[in-house]
Amino acid sequence: MLARRVTSILVKGVASNGKLVTVQWDNGEESSFHASWLRDNCKCSECVTASGQKIPQSIVPSQLRIEKACIDGGSVDIKWQGGIHNKSSFEADWLRKFAYSDSHLDREEERLAALEHRFRLPEIDYEQLTSSEEGTWKWLECLNESGLCLIKNVPPIENMVKKIANLAAPCSHSIYGETFHVKVDPKPINIAYSDSALAPHMDLAYFESPPGVQMLHCLEFESGVEGGESTFIDGHAVAEELKKINYEAFKVLKTVPATFQKDHLDRNFPLKMFYQRPHISVNYRDQVTAVFWSPPFEGPLRVRGDKVDLYYNAYADFSTLLKEKEMWNKHGTEFRMEKGDLITFNNRRMPHGRNAFTSQCGLRHLQGCYMDIDMVLNKYRLLSSQYRKTEAPLGATGEFRFGNSSHR
Ligand code: OGA
Ligand code: ZN
Repeated sequence: MLARRVTSILVKGVASNGKLVTVQWDNGEESSFHASWLRDNCKCSECVTASGQKIPQSIVPSQLRIEKACIDGGSVDIKWQGGIHNKSSFEADWLRKFAYSDSHLDREEERLAALEHRFRLPEIDYEQLTSSEEGTWKWLECLNESGLCLIKNVPPIENMVKKIANLAAPCSHSIYGETFHVKVDPKPINIAYSDSALAPHMDLAYFESPPGVQMLHCLEFESGVEGGESTFIDGHAVAEELKKINYEAFKVLKTVPATFQKDHLDRNFPLKMFYQRPHISVNYRDQVTAVFWSPPFEGPLRVRGDKVDLYYNAYADFSTLLKEKEMWNKHGTEFRMEKGDLITFNNRRMPHGRNAFTSQCGLRHLQGCYMDIDMVLNKYRLLSSQYRKTEAPLGATGEFRFGNSSHR
């Protein structure tokens, strides 16, 4: 039997009991693949078009049986029993990449948990970011892992947010245009355009698909201005803490839909936006995949009567937790942006805010934009295949709980 090097791991053997194929790797690990899964992922020309699209097959697990599985060069070959479709062949590299055995998934979850419970504010210099595509990859890697990344020494001129966004993906249009300015306005259309404090929140929570990434570039922050520090807290980590200490509240917040709204007609571009969804999204393993938290943009709750007080109690519990000093010590940060700083963050994971400031003492001026998460992830995966030096630590694609409805 020929062994083959697969991202530094050799395939040692393969066995089947008819319903399951087990691949043994030479590091002692095993990965099992169900017959249904293998049949569904067959890559032959009857199952996949030349342009890579799947030709749907009917898959009924009870009707599938594997006659034989063996290694053929760098591939694992399956011979199917009966039926018209008798053979499938899988590159060992590909099987390794998409392996879903408990040990693989557990390893990913352990790494994810370790990252989530270690708050970091990674920094990258503008020079490093823009000097090569590897710089762009490092930036996106930080954003993926830590939920935010601070870019230092960006020239403090307008539209740099757009230029930097374009390294990864186009800015997405929103109700504030392609880019927006955050500075005091005598007639603000949004509390952000005043000198008031902003409690931690997500932007555009009333959209069906709130932007995945937000960027804020500090164009001016005069030294006379007191206050105005930026705040970020890892909402995923705090929601996981809620799950541990108060599962009842967690259960309510992941099931009962809150109302988010922007009901504002007295502006150039009048708005009547409403969206109902629970504050917390989870995956099929009950792990947090998104936190929707935007108290100023909540509208009237419209749920069955037996849920109303349950909701308000759970809401109060989470809201209190999000303010606790211990949570901020473990999962949050507060810092004063400097002119030229550009903070980029995951809008579904890191509720952000700022302290009130003294606007009569000088100018505080940020320019912001949003990016569509799908395009950002596309770029991140493309760059990862070029610059990641080791096997993707988090499975097939390397990103986690980062997409707008990511269920990793
Ligand atoms: C915003 C916002 C933060 C700041 O405009 O949505 O959160 O630091 N601004 O002014
Ligand atoms: Zn905001």
